[in-house]
Amino acid sequence: MDILAIESSCDETAAAVVRDGRETLSSVIHTQVEEHGRYGGVVPEIASRRHIEQITAVVDRALEEAGHTLRSVDAVAVTAAPGLIGALLVGVNYAKGLALAADKPLIPVHHLRGHLAANYLCYPELEPPFLGLIVSGGHSHIVEVLGYTEYRILGRTRDDAAGEAFDKAARAMGLPYPGGVSIDRLTPQGNPEAFSLPIPHVSGSDYDFSFSGLKTAVVNLLHNAAQKGETIPAADLAASFAYRVADILVENTLRAAERFHYRTLVLAGGVSANSTLRRRMAEACAQRGIALYAPPLPLCGDNAAMIGAQGYYQLLAGYQADRALNAAANMEIDREFVNVLPS
Ligand code: KG4
Ligand code: ZN
Repeated sequence: MDILAIESSCDETAAAVVRDGRETLSSVIHTQVEEHGRYGGVVPEIASRRHIEQITAVVDRALEEAGHTLRSVDAVAVTAAPGLIGALLVGVNYAKGLALAADKPLIPVHHLRGHLAANYLCYPELEPPFLGLIVSGGHSHIVEVLGYTEYRILGRTRDDAAGEAFDKAARAMGLPYPGGVSIDRLTPQGNPEAFSLPIPHVSGSDYDFSFSGLKTAVVNLLHNAAQKGETIPAADLAASFAYRVADILVENTLRAAERFHYRTLVLAGGVSANSTLRRRMAEACAQRGIALYAPPLPLCGDNAAMIGAQGYYQLLAGYQADRALNAAANMEIDREFVNVLPS
């Protein structure tokens, strides 16, 4: 079954054709990152406008590169939540139009379910159940993936998402957007033990995270140094920051893996591209005999192939939308879209 998938939840306009949830026939991504970089972050209004301008060409190219037409695909999947509402609506309305015009099933996909499913595209043996760590620009979750469309959230961030923390720390350091990438580039030249950043305390949960204190510590460090006329070696601070974020993520995730007896751990989302996190998680998993899966770098960030992968499993489970489908800015990963129920 070949599914045309569309993703427009943030600043990437993307389309892909995916076969049976596992094989990428085409994947086209138009990124707006340079334009938003000028403003130091994503400007929602600009994002929506660029999606409108790009979506037709991006979808056409994805179909063409896969050797398909709209008529020959089996279904249309689209990211319908969570994300920037104006940006999501461009993709959702476009997908609705295509599905209606060609009389194809319309499959709404949760963006974070898609991030996890990116791993299905490169690891044929990977199947639920497994433990997932989703770390993106807007979300940080430890989640039990009980089945292809069944989830249970164990832990979440109490304040900033991991990617947001990277972006804010980078901004304080005067590094370009997206900050996670900028910090990651600097870390190989830095000493991760140069600055002892705090491990924020989170009460009431063994698995929740908090990152805002870490960001504040970076801001204070820079501020104090500036007042004294000192400069802080950027690579050392970047390495120390990445190290501490990885500490927090590794510790909580492995605690959850042990408590709930998971032998398979899957990373997902933009921050899963982080080299410090990947290395430290790999070391920790190897010590405990846990199999670790992380998407190859091009599949860590936003793309439509991952939406096609998850869309396949949503369709198999009977989830289909009608023309009343709406986008939602916020939605938990364990919830279903309104009026979209297994048949
Ligand atoms: O998943 P994603 O592409 O979009 C959302 O769904 O939010 O994640 C984007 C986030 C940004 O905050 C970006 O700074 C971060 O992922 N990111 C990284 C790296 N690459 C992207 N953070 C740390 N290290 C990286 N290599
Ligand atoms: Zn994302």
